[in-house]
Amino acid sequence: MPTVNLREALQDASNRHVGLGHFNFSDLVVLKAVADTARQLKLPVVVGVSEGEREFVGVPQAVALVKSYREEYGFPIFLNADHTHSLEKAVEAAKAGFDLIVFDVSNQPFEENVKRTKEAVAAVKSIHPGILVEGEIGYIGASSSIHTSVPKDLSPLTTAEEAKQFVDATAVDLLAPALGTMHGMLKSMLTGKESNHLNIARIAEIKAATGIFLTLHGGSGTNSAEFVEGIHAGLNLIHINTELRVAWRRGLEEELTMKSEEVTPYHLLPGAYRAVSEVVKSRLQLFSGTSAKEAHS
Ligand code: G3H
Ligand code: ZN
Repeated sequence: MPTVNLREALQDASNRHVGLGHFNFSDLVVLKAVADTARQLKLPVVVGVSEGEREFVGVPQAVALVKSYREEYGFPIFLNADHTHSLEKAVEAAKAGFDLIVFDVSNQPFEENVKRTKEAVAAVKSIHPGILVEGEIGYIGASSSIHTSVPKDLSPLTTAEEAKQFVDATAVDLLAPALGTMHGMLKSMLTGKESNHLNIARIAEIKAATGIFLTLHGGSGTNSAEFVEGIHAGLNLIHINTELRVAWRRGLEEELTMKSEEVTPYHLLPGAYRAVSEVVKSRLQLFSGTSAKEAHS
């Protein structure tokens, strides 16, 4: 069993100016691909389930699956209750044994966001003080899917002033500001024609003002060089979901096409597993500064 907890893993990454990868899953294929790849690379990793993803996987099942990898592999893999929109769901995840809860009421006005996030921090810490809570400022879209146009009503970039005010008032452990990314990918990002762009100066300003761990949401489709600059400027945890979903589908489709009569899941699913593993490997190597070259643009 690894003795390091998530706070220590984040602190260690921060000290070494590298980032931790966070990958969402909603089936065993993706979870296995993430766990196996991180273990091969000897890197700590965070896996997350949003409310929709954990409704499908099951809350106690997600905890048990991650625990089984942690114990069998003896390496640091942590579980996040991603984009938790209510106190009730945050409490459920805390009681179930999650390591991190992303409490997300970023679609609310700032004062309401502060008030509800502060309540969530108190409630979660009363269940277990070691569980980390992340708060979010700024709406960056809601869906890790393929978009034909930029989602409506995206918030402007978070300012250092509002980030500090939020952190001071809520006592969150991690902050997810709006930094130029959005959830999901535009069609043009699938071919690498277009990318999300990070505001590196803003990341540095927010880090200097708050001094806490910073999370980047909506990582899919982000320019690789900017990921590295963003980590050096203060990002600690980077969320990737849509890129894995795209790889999962493509990998499965290829296998279905090649084996048109096959009905055995474990003869078909390795295609999705391999495609997801490749993305995880390339992103983890980039975030940890161990890539030979940048595989995504
Ligand atoms: O919480 C999950 C993410 O922020 C992932 O966003 O689907 O754009 O990679 P993405
Ligand atoms: Zn997110």
